[in-house]
Amino acid sequence: MSERSFEQRVALVTGAGSGIGFAAAQRFAEEGALVALVDQNAEAGQDAASAIRASGGVCEFYHADLGVEQEIIQALNKVVNKFGHVDHLVNNAGTVLVKGIEECSADEWDRVLNVNLRSIFLMTKYSLPSLRISLHATIVNLGSVSSFTAQADTPAYVASKGGALMLSKALALDLARYGIRVNCVCPGITDTPMFRYHVNATADPEHTLRKRIDRVPLARALAPREVADTILYLSSEQSSGITGTSVVVDAGYTAASEWTRNPD
Ligand SMILES: NC(=O)c1ccc[n+]([C@@H]2O[C@H](COP(=O)([O-])OP(=O)(O)OC[C@H]3O[C@@H](n4cnc5c(N)ncnc54)[C@H](O)[C@@H]3O)[C@@H](O)[C@H]2O)c1
Repeated sequence: MSERSFEQRVALVTGAGSGIGFAAAQRFAEEGALVALVDQNAEAGQDAASAIRASGGVCEFYHADLGVEQEIIQALNKVVNKFGHVDHLVNNAGTVLVKGIEECSADEWDRVLNVNLRSIFLMTKYSLPSLRISLHATIVNLGSVSSFTAQADTPAYVASKGGALMLSKALALDLARYGIRVNCVCPGITDTPMFRYHVNATADPEHTLRKRIDRVPLARALAPREVADTILYLSSEQSSGITGTSVVVDAGYTAASEWTRNPD
């Protein structure tokens, strides 16, 4: 990607206070975009915005709980008031719940689905008037390797990520008439607070971490920036022919039905 290839473009990244979203916001800013960071964690969001500004980027932070429709509408109104429009929407915010079918309540199920899946629908719906006037509009949604293959004890999360992949395809078809491209980035194990939370929720976090990494052919967790680079690619002119598909960034995880670094 050429230096400053997003000059004068407006990028809106949800869940930008941490992990992959923060890395994507940083990358957009490095490439010259004006960046709107949206997150429910005000402190993390403000810190992320300060870090980007300290590196010379132009950005604003907007507080919103993306599980709540009205907060999505209010945040988008503020973004458009400030920046005029949105060119690149990244629906990255996500939450994970480590509870199996017997423990997961209906309210918990709704919360995970609202944040991880319904927010993609609502952010896209309410961004459309803005995206439609852009000549370069793209949407990148965050799926997961769980969009393709399930994990134990996370039925709500897995269902939401399967939905994120298919919703991306459905939106790509509906928005093609406006020239808006929609794609899904599906990360594997990425070293972020979400991943650490997931590991720490297990009975033996050290053992879980070792087992998880042993299952990865490249034998490491991804850095958030490695996923962010794919988000930037799918938002850039370099991917101008790509819509309605997914890019898996998983260090080889889904290439194997079974894998261990240390075979017996
Ligand atoms: N880390 C991984 O291994 C991994 C793997 C596959 C997919 N993903 C996906 O990547 C995306 C980013 O994950 P991450 O690992 O960077 O997570 P993270 O927890 O580090 O960051 C997620 C951010 O989203 C924000 N957020 C959560 N719920 C929100 C809400 N209701 N409203 C607004 N903001 C909210 C959080 O405050 C946080 O800043 C998620 O969609 C996640 O499912 C992550």
